[in-house]
Amino acid sequence: MKFEIAPSILAADFSRLAEHVQQVAPFSGRIHADVMDGHFVPNLSMGPALVASLRGSIELPIEVHLMVTNPEHFVDPFVRAGADRLIFHLEVAEDPKELARRIAAQGVSAGIAINPDTPWQKVEKYLPEIDLVVVMTVNPGFGGQPFMREVLGKVSEARKAVSKYQLDVDIEVDGGIDSTTAKEALDAGANIFVAGQAIFGQPDPARAGEELMKVVQGGLLGG
Ligand code: DX5
Ligand code: ZN
Repeated sequence: MKFEIAPSILAADFSRLAEHVQQVAPFSGRIHADVMDGHFVPNLSMGPALVASLRGSIELPIEVHLMVTNPEHFVDPFVRAGADRLIFHLEVAEDPKELARRIAAQGVSAGIAINPDTPWQKVEKYLPEIDLVVVMTVNPGFGGQPFMREVLGKVSEARKAVSKYQLDVDIEVDGGIDSTTAKEALDAGANIFVAGQAIFGQPDPARAGEELMKVVQGGLLGG
């Protein structure tokens, strides 16, 4: 199993985005781009144009986290922008299976995210259709919020289900991840760790990310 950090550019300086991303590239498995529509979440962030310009300036895979009410409308624009992975929210997907298949049919990896108050059981049946499940560890909408420990039970349930059915599905945690909470999520079964504030919000993002990577790689050592 791979253990990865996915820095969230929501916490980066947008005017120096490529430079900031290159700084963290050595320890990053992928870059996490948070798309917010001011409707599904009470905030606005970025769109396909930003993802396309980032795609042209970095080598790392880019995953797009769609925090939007109509994810169906945004598959094509983000595929064209060069997204490698598209994550939509279960809460707003009309037909999650069809949407995951539509994404996969374009050669893009598909993921489903669930909010803190969405029960694990609602997503379990879609596991065979996806490459990734994102267990939100904050209510989506803003970076820099405190980690919701009560969500860890769902991470364990996710890991149990993925192991039981022997699926190749990543389990990602998103929100409030730092060295302490990453270890808790790792122990619960997560293998991809999104981090915004804990990397780009630090005076030395490269160093902060390397520290976080040490924690996450503990997964490889089983410790
Ligand atoms: C929250 C976003 C997160 C956010 C994480 O709505 O989905 O990806 O950027 O930021 P931190 O790590 O600062 O909580
Ligand atoms: Zn996110």
